[in-house]
Amino acid sequence: SALELFVDELPDMPRISGFDVVNGVSVPKSLKIGMFSKKWKFHRDLPATTVFAYGESKSTATVPGPTIETLHGVDTYVTWQNHLPSKHILPWDPTIPTAMSPSNKGIPTVVHLHGGIDEPESDGHAYSWFTSGFKARGPAWTKKKYHYHNNQQPGNLWYHDHAMGLTRVNLLAGLIGSYIIRDHKVEAPLNLPSGLEYDRPLIIFDRSFRTDGSLYMNPTGNNPTIHPQWQPEYFGDAIIVNGKAWPHMTVKRRKYRFRIINASNARFFRFFFTNGLKFIHVASDSVYNERPVVVNKLLLAPSEIADVVIDFSKSTSDSTILSNDAAYPFPSGDPVNEINSKVMKFTIKTRQENDTSTIPNHLINYPMPKLSSASRTRYIAMYEYASPIDEPTHLNLNNKSFEEPTTEKPKVGSTEIWYVINLTEDNHPLHIHIGLFKVLEQTELLDVEQFRDCMTKVNDAIKCQISKYARGKKLAVVAHERGWKNVYKMTPGVVTKIVVKFSYVHTNESYPFDATAEPGYVYHCHILDHEDNVMMRPLKFVH
Ligand code: C2O
Ligand code: CU
Repeated sequence: SALELFVDELPDMPRISGFDVVNGVSVPKSLKIGMFSKKWKFHRDLPATTVFAYGESKSTATVPGPTIETLHGVDTYVTWQNHLPSKHILPWDPTIPTAMSPSNKGIPTVVHLHGGIDEPESDGHAYSWFTSGFKARGPAWTKKKYHYHNNQQPGNLWYHDHAMGLTRVNLLAGLIGSYIIRDHKVEAPLNLPSGLEYDRPLIIFDRSFRTDGSLYMNPTGNNPTIHPQWQPEYFGDAIIVNGKAWPHMTVKRRKYRFRIINASNARFFRFFFTNGLKFIHVASDSVYNERPVVVNKLLLAPSEIADVVIDFSKSTSDSTILSNDAAYPFPSGDPVNEINSKVMKFTIKTRQENDTSTIPNHLINYPMPKLSSASRTRYIAMYEYASPIDEPTHLNLNNKSFEEPTTEKPKVGSTEIWYVINLTEDNHPLHIHIGLFKVLEQTELLDVEQFRDCMTKVNDAIKCQISKYARGKKLAVVAHERGWKNVYKMTPGVVTKIVVKFSYVHTNESYPFDATAEPGYVYHCHILDHEDNVMMRPLKFVH
């Protein structure tokens, strides 16, 4: 029987402070956060679900995990501890490159702070995994206690698992949480809605359940003779916000700030309100916009973050449903249905509230680097391979496996131009660890098929005469995505030109740690099922 919508209250995840205050001064703090197997209630009428949850203890662990609150300029240290059992709750696949092996006697995990500008040893490299009690450790494992510098611009990050070939199942099981870096000096003057009540993360993902409450993931691959379990995209029918399916929130007639994270494996959301309320978009991913941008619809790929203000005093009705109309896979898959088109419901109190928060005309401007200073141009091509029955067997970047020698070796502190060429039929959100980038141009390819044929054989954009093919229509970059991003939606059949900065955007300074250290970083498609098989490549810095 179908679950009733909008019956559970929207939770706010527990908050953990990433700093201590001693004699009025904020000082670094060390946290211990574990991963636990436990039961979680996703809906009033659904039996409890076995999940993997982050928390300071098993009893306080939640899905999503606690929100870690940090301060710009104050270091946070986290020892991530794996307390998971030896058997996974979801069908992983032994035929894709994976950290899982019977000799590990445990589930490999490793935590990446998405959007973090941190040393390689603390970046959660896919081969830095470890099992329960650190008994087994991946080949790139370096240390237990991760160091988050929090030296970057204020904004929204999230932490999640990143173990080789297990990212899609470990996140699906619940290993997700939000992480905020605040800088009161620059943020207080903005006077955006603030405080626990009016400034809240919304972590949104889709899941399917069996009637006994267990998580459902199709256990048979779409191409089982090649990959017995791997599916190219996971989609669930229930939409979960902060750990509850289609929750409900009663709000005051005033402004609220929501930091919306799309934590789905593969589902894009195009959000809108049924009563026409607008999103006032103030930051994208981990960086403020220069100016607020008002939009009716908000398209968010997996791992993208939209930081928005909703002014419920403008509501013409006493309730509204946050809805979604993005096809899955995006953009040319199935249209949404009756239930996955609904996200959550807001009931708006009638009384007008006194609201002293504001939305300034100017937010924060982080200057654009001079393009002439770019030290390198790279071409990154996205490929999809299919079996004779026309089912995808794997995808990759630049026709290379993850294991092939590193080709992307930027200089620390440099700026580069990347042309990302999407030769597939789906949109792929490309995420670059540590770097921030701006989208400069999106150009449709002429004769995609011809160009793809050449690329598949030669795998060299110059030899395949990209300048001859990249001459189609220019697609505008929407106003709220013209700032600094750490992930961007790469449109199929399009060449997306980005400028990537490997230094801080707020100071232009280089990093205060050795970015050239092992094991380096990665960049990848953030559709988790693609990242696992294997749209991911290493990124290593040189001096
Ligand atoms: Cu959000 Cu490499 O990940
Ligand atoms: Cu992808």
